[in-house]
Amino acid sequence: MTIKNDKPRDMDTTLIHAGRDPQRFEGAVNTPIFHASTILFPDAQSIRTESHPSGNEYGRNGTSTTRALEEAVSALEGGERTVTYPSGAGAVAGAFLTVLKAGDHFLIADNVYGPSRRFCNQVLSSLGVDCEFYDPALGGDIVTLFRPETRALFMESPGTATFEVCDVPAMCQAAREKGIITILDNTWSAGLYFRAFEHGVDMTVHAGTKYVGGHADVMLGMVTTSEKLYPKLKQTAKNLGACAGPEVCYLALRGLRTLSLRLPRHFDTGLKLAQWLDTREEVETVLHPALPSCPGHEIWKRDFTGASGLFGVVLKDYSTAAVDALLDNTPLFGLGYSWGGYESLIIPTDLGKLRTATTWHHKTPVIRIHAGLESYDDLRADLEVGLDCLRSTN
Ligand SMILES: Cc1ncc(COP(=O)(O)O)c(C=O)c1O
Repeated sequence: MTIKNDKPRDMDTTLIHAGRDPQRFEGAVNTPIFHASTILFPDAQSIRTESHPSGNEYGRNGTSTTRALEEAVSALEGGERTVTYPSGAGAVAGAFLTVLKAGDHFLIADNVYGPSRRFCNQVLSSLGVDCEFYDPALGGDIVTLFRPETRALFMESPGTATFEVCDVPAMCQAAREKGIITILDNTWSAGLYFRAFEHGVDMTVHAGTKYVGGHADVMLGMVTTSEKLYPKLKQTAKNLGACAGPEVCYLALRGLRTLSLRLPRHFDTGLKLAQWLDTREEVETVLHPALPSCPGHEIWKRDFTGASGLFGVVLKDYSTAAVDALLDNTPLFGLGYSWGGYESLIIPTDLGKLRTATTWHHKTPVIRIHAGLESYDDLRADLEVGLDCLRSTN
């Protein structure tokens, strides 16, 4: 006899067990990689009704590997159903196309990831969606921008370029009262440090490319939502012909199993580096939600349970050559864009030019750092050399 244990589980436990059913797969601990375009139905009746006993029907619509990942990601995000996409950018596009149509008004935070912004300006606008960017600090005052035709509201909190934290609960409450759908890019928190659905969000997008993959070797996007919005979300992915490949789903599941071990280390090292950089004479300010100087810090303290390893550093007025000397003399920090892997990264960023609803007040150079899993002491020593080079090159 099996005794059922209904006690709520910690996320540490959930991430180990969600989306696994070993006895369905010959006892294998991990759901195997199913390479399948064609699914063979057992008889004429089952193909006529598209009811294969496995639940699969066509490779593009997912196999057991895909469903294992989607189930696990739903548990991570705290939503009911997930659809996977071949990239985070694809997931953003899929979420938008699920809820928007010509004639709708769409509100987008001014601090969102560049390609998300571009999709609004270049694709949604040409499809007849009226895209309006708003100040991410608006909070509940977002109501002042609502119109009868406002259909959806998109947030990225914190913005992964400028790191302001939005008052997501206040915005979601205001939107819900008007029947406006809220979508949040929850990639920075890895789903782990911000419980989006508990804070009122209707749909999350998450670039699994980052911390879920965690090893800088997969491209993956996920959209998580309610049972109610799921049929439309899934149909949109089918219409787009979008599906994540089976190896990617497998690697993402493998990454997900250790997410709650890796994230605290990224958090700890990132925060220590941010605090140390904040004391340096070369630095104007550090953009890290856990530092009191970061816009939205109080909201971060209220709503988040941690921070990822990604943050920004506004330098004092150094020349491009000096900043390049810093970037070229920190060998433990790779020069690359896609963060969330086990390794540290550093890039120059140019934030001001993207904004339209708000003004970016810092005029001096900004760099973005991803704190990887290396030792804090080694990373700090590396940055110390880089900062010496910055000063001596200016
Ligand atoms: C916040 C955020 N959302 C979405 C994406 C897009 O993810 P992908 O690179 O998988 O397309 C990124 C990528 O950097 C990101 O930083």
